[in-house]
Amino acid sequence: MSCAVQAASAFNARTLSSLKSPPNVVVVGGTSGIGRAIALSIGQHCPSASITIIGRNQSAADEILSQLGSKSKFIRADVSLMSEIRAATKKIDAVDMLILSQGILTLAGRTPTTENIDNKLALHYYGRALFVKELLPLLRSSPIGGKVLFILDSLRSNPSKVNWNDMSLENSYSLSAAANHAMSFTDIIIQYYGSQPENSNVAFIHAYPSGVKTPLANSLPFYARLPMKAALAAGLGVSPEDCAEYMIYGMLGTDKGWKFIDNKGEVVTKKHPVQEEMLQKVVEHTSQMTSANQ
Ligand SMILES: NC(=O)c1ccc[n+]([C@@H]2O[C@H](COP(=O)([O-])OP(=O)(O)OC[C@H]3O[C@@H](n4cnc5c(N)ncnc54)[C@H](OP(=O)(O)O)[C@@H]3O)[C@@H](O)[C@H]2O)c1
Repeated sequence: MSCAVQAASAFNARTLSSLKSPPNVVVVGGTSGIGRAIALSIGQHCPSASITIIGRNQSAADEILSQLGSKSKFIRADVSLMSEIRAATKKIDAVDMLILSQGILTLAGRTPTTENIDNKLALHYYGRALFVKELLPLLRSSPIGGKVLFILDSLRSNPSKVNWNDMSLENSYSLSAAANHAMSFTDIIIQYYGSQPENSNVAFIHAYPSGVKTPLANSLPFYARLPMKAALAAGLGVSPEDCAEYMIYGMLGTDKGWKFIDNKGEVVTKKHPVQEEMLQKVVEHTSQMTSANQ
């Protein structure tokens, strides 16, 4: 563990162990990779935390729960579906920290779910926004201040390249457009939520984890998977455990409003500007898309 990770980990341990009440933590995508490492780290720093992990893999969840306190649990849900997210959030009655780490890496083109939302966009943006919307009342009433951490990519968004005439990319899908829409919409929605007076007790954070040695690339075809795995093995990637400490550090260091953080949990300031008009469009579009099958 480097000195920087040790410092972040010590800060996390101090902060989590001195909270006035043990936190209720929800980790979506908590069965693998970065989400799994965050759940385990919070569990280690604060054994009395109640940690709910959400995903589809029951055996992975069982392995993680065996390392967490008795108040922790697993909610099985396919979070590419808005209907399953609504059902899952109804099973949650307290949340202080919401970590959104669900995701996939795929080179496939637009792949609609049964709700006609692209699978990747559902995981990387729309479903995350719905989790926030459904859990906001609980986050607002958190006695220790609510926190929402989006793990995606806070560095490379460019709202000026969003296709405002086809925001869901139903007719103009490409991998780069899907990535930019998910990143830009995340940037915009946290600014919207973070600026609402009724959310003054909640902090919204968008993080870039950098290259992390997780199973994320396993579903890629071998010609894309092998170079990525080789680069990570050659030292270009960090362990999920180190990444988790930086992500938690950046999250705990944010009290209110919104913040963009990098792979070390430090603030990112160089961002493309967002206009008020973009904000309104994203809020309206998100509300429409996440109402699917209601
Ligand atoms: N690793 C990196 O280098 C890197 C770099 C930049 C950004 N990111 C972003 O960070 C996030 C986490 O990545 P990771 O590397 O930790 O990936 P990972 O190890 O593959 O974990 C992905 C998580 O998403 C969950 N998930 C995927 N599809 C789901 C579905 N339909 N329903 C429910 N859960 C689903 C998986 O749970 P189940 O298997 O249980 O369904 C798993 O817990 C992703 O959004 C990724 O894009 C990662």
